Amino acid sequence: MVFPGQLRDWHMSCFMEGNPGVPMLTPSQLVRQDPRAARVLHRHNIEFCCEGGNETLETACDRRGLDVEDVLAEIEGQRMPEQPDWSEAPLGDLVQHILATHHRPLDEELPRLQHLAATVRGAHPDHAVWLGKVQLTLDSIVQELLQHMPKEENVLFPLILAGRGHVATMPMEVMETEHRRLGELLSALREVTDGFQAPADACPTWQALWTGLDALTEDLHVHVHLEDHILFPRARVAPSARV
Ligand SMILES: [Fe+2]
Ligand SMILES: [Fe+2]
Repeated sequence: MVFPGQLRDWHMSCFMEGNPGVPMLTPSQLVRQDPRAARVLHRHNIEFCCEGGNETLETACDRRGLDVEDVLAEIEGQRMPEQPDWSEAPLGDLVQHILATHHRPLDEELPRLQHLAATVRGAHPDHAVWLGKVQLTLDSIVQELLQHMPKEENVLFPLILAGRGHVATMPMEVMETEHRRLGELLSALREVTDGFQAPADACPTWQALWTGLDALTEDLHVHVHLEDHILFPRARVAPSARV
């Protein structure tokens, strides 16, 4: 775990000459070391879960015309409540955190966003084609989640909580495949909403929809990151959920 104020120095040390054994950081490694990075990377459309999290932070910044040092400084400036170090906390605590923070809130948030999308589309017939695409993409994300999360809750997480993650390789691979599909849908959502930038004349309901979709995307990236990069790798080798 990197402590506040040390992030830039620590990241830059990975590039120092004479330290060739240290791999350059990827965005997903950065978020694992410092959860504050998730918000900043999301803001700059830098992927940190699924496949996109595997290029180096420097490459990801270069491709977007960003200065890696500015991005690290922005992360340092983030204020977030203290969180457990999920690479060390008991697996059972991490599973409960994922359920309480990332699964249960969707029970209300997904229908709310679908209702908002239908309202906005109905209120703006002049943008019906565009808003119809947004609505369809959101519906696909909802369908994906509604078939994905019950499998985690009813099959995979109970195995992990029982300390049997090492026999759950196949369910984890299925979940990782579904995460990649979800990641593609989230990229499509960002594209079809113009990066969640509402038109200047958008009504408050339209703005609320875009804000909600932006927040949903950020939340799902953190959710998938916790599962793909921390929970599943740890569960594969853990002798029990208490470790
Ligand atoms: Fe999940
Ligand atoms: Fe998942």
